[in-house]
Amino acid sequence: MTDHSHIAAAEADHINARVVSNRAHARQAFPDAPHLLNNASMNRAFDTISKWPGYTPTPLLDLPEIAAHCGVARVVYKDESTRLGLGAFKALGGAYAVADLVREQVAKGANVGEVTVATATDGNHGRSVAWGAQLAGCNAKIYIHEHVSRAREAAMQAYGAEVIRVHGNYEVSLADCRADAEANGWHLVSDTSWEGYVDVPRAIMAGYTVMGREIIDQLGAEALTHAFLPIGVGGLAAGVAAPLWAHMGTQLCNLISIESTMSCCFADSIEAGRPTLFDITEETLMAGLSCGEVSLVAWEILQPALSHSMAISDEAVAPLMRWFHERSPSIEAGECSTSGLAGLLQAHKTPQHWQSMDFDANSVVLLIGTEGATDPDLYAKIISGD
Ligand SMILES: Cc1ncc(COP(=O)(O)O)c(C=O)c1O
Repeated sequence: MTDHSHIAAAEADHINARVVSNRAHARQAFPDAPHLLNNASMNRAFDTISKWPGYTPTPLLDLPEIAAHCGVARVVYKDESTRLGLGAFKALGGAYAVADLVREQVAKGANVGEVTVATATDGNHGRSVAWGAQLAGCNAKIYIHEHVSRAREAAMQAYGAEVIRVHGNYEVSLADCRADAEANGWHLVSDTSWEGYVDVPRAIMAGYTVMGREIIDQLGAEALTHAFLPIGVGGLAAGVAAPLWAHMGTQLCNLISIESTMSCCFADSIEAGRPTLFDITEETLMAGLSCGEVSLVAWEILQPALSHSMAISDEAVAPLMRWFHERSPSIEAGECSTSGLAGLLQAHKTPQHWQSMDFDANSVVLLIGTEGATDPDLYAKIISGD
């Protein structure tokens, strides 16, 4: 297969691409509010994370062939595959929340070895929490659902975490984790938030804002016009949106959320104008995006900020992973990392979407490669086409 055929496969008509225009979108000043992500919490996260061993900004790569194909000025790809040696942006969030929590417990007189953090995960967040716990010297209990691969489980165990596999989907693993944490006095480090549980998810998102800050620095004087933000519970998207919004203010570019049609809780929520549950009956290949419930803190930031919400079916995942792999220089893009490019290509081939999203020859588009080969077996299998 040539490069072009991979792109053609990702543009195929049988791919289901849903676009929702956000009625609540308002071009307003950045709400620098204490209960959301604000300038102070973003600066604090950067000060801490930039001092971690191994910290270095991840690359912002140009994809000139995609820019030419779509007839836009520039397409840039934030490549998180090398983040802190953990292979995904998630390295920033969970580990930062653990550091914050341990600091707080130690200040209250706890012995760090007696602190236990617990989380439910599809894999990448758990790896970050496990790594952060090892860095901080506390214990970690990680709950995974029945579809999480053995490779992802092993990666978390390698950082010394106890991994507990439950029967059922992500929501079941989260419910079990919450119940056990409450019964045992463990500290829950969940990346989603609900009524009354906001501090930790907000700290996780503050960790993610380091990515947005790096992107702004890397772009210099060039202003983005569009960004595709992959969505599971919305933490990553809010973590990138907040620094962009703080930087661009009322000139904030079009932000387009992108998720799987098999777990499109954001598209449904944006359409309904309020958080709406999505009942996941089938797992998307983009495992990190498989979440049926929006994070409330993320929702508060994203609802006014998103111009559009998109959902896409799985058929573009394998061709685009191969396209990234085969291009020169090669990019290691895991399953979730294809979502933004798939959204861009699908929007491009549908004139009505292209116009409604205001794309033109001057557009500067950001895609986020949220992970590399976080599941090496699956990555190798998809790339080889077996
Ligand atoms: C690789 C990858 N991309 C994107 C996401 C989505 O992030 P969030 O759940 O914060 O919306 C995740 C979440 O686990 C992920 O692992």
